[in-house]
Amino acid sequence: MEKLNKFTKIFRKIYYKLFIENFKGKLNYNFTENFYRWDLIEYLIKKNNYKNYLEIGCDKNQLFSKVNIDNKIGVDPVSGGNVRKTSDDFFKENKSSFDIVFIDGLHTYEQVKRDILNSVNFLLDEGIILVHDCMPDSLGKQAVPRYKMQWNGNVWKAIVDLRQQENLEIYTCEIDQGIGVISKKKNTSILKLDKPINKLKFKDYYNNYKEYMRIISLEEFKKIF
Ligand SMILES: C[S@@+](CC[C@H](N)C(=O)[O-])C[C@H]1O[C@@H](n2cnc3c(N)ncnc32)[C@H](O)[C@@H]1O
Repeated sequence: MEKLNKFTKIFRKIYYKLFIENFKGKLNYNFTENFYRWDLIEYLIKKNNYKNYLEIGCDKNQLFSKVNIDNKIGVDPVSGGNVRKTSDDFFKENKSSFDIVFIDGLHTYEQVKRDILNSVNFLLDEGIILVHDCMPDSLGKQAVPRYKMQWNGNVWKAIVDLRQQENLEIYTCEIDQGIGVISKKKNTSILKLDKPINKLKFKDYYNNYKEYMRIISLEEFKKIF
């Protein structure tokens, strides 16, 4: 994880507020209590008899060590998992296919979008891609460059962008910082934006996140998947 000293934090915060966006709204989410990313993954593995798991970004194996499955690959250039590479380098050489992919590496829009599209290429037809940190509650938690320790980044933008495509069915489940759920099916609810993706601000997310992200509760998730 990127180390931030006090000076960098303050400098980036001022820069962000002066030149990128300054917005004070804070969202209150209804994240399900006591149900986390590892519970969702266990549910999917058991229900679908999944065998092959890929995790992008493993840190201290907080999640990776809890995933019980026949084959698992964890990719991280710094720590955890079992492949010491960036996700881009991993996908360049990868030949395996996966039932379930958990994306939690570098939390920037461009990188997450690339991680999702690369994962789609190696996803088995009935497989699922999960994306962590899709629901930031405030400007600072999603600011890029990062100026806070607690950070979701602008992962949300990758979800909003891909919700415009016809060939991916995407929801966001309201648990554990927001988990994007992507399958290789026809998009039954194509998102229409009234401005280009590169013009979207946190304020747009704040005002439209339920529609942008196609938010579903855990109960709804379990009816669909
Ligand atoms: C938020 S942590 C992952 C946490 C873990 N998945 C969990 O569930 O607790 C993010 C990790 O992504 C890694 N990372 C950063 N850039 C990456 C990249 N380009 N490819 C893969 N992993 C990356 C970092 O080294 C860090 O360990």
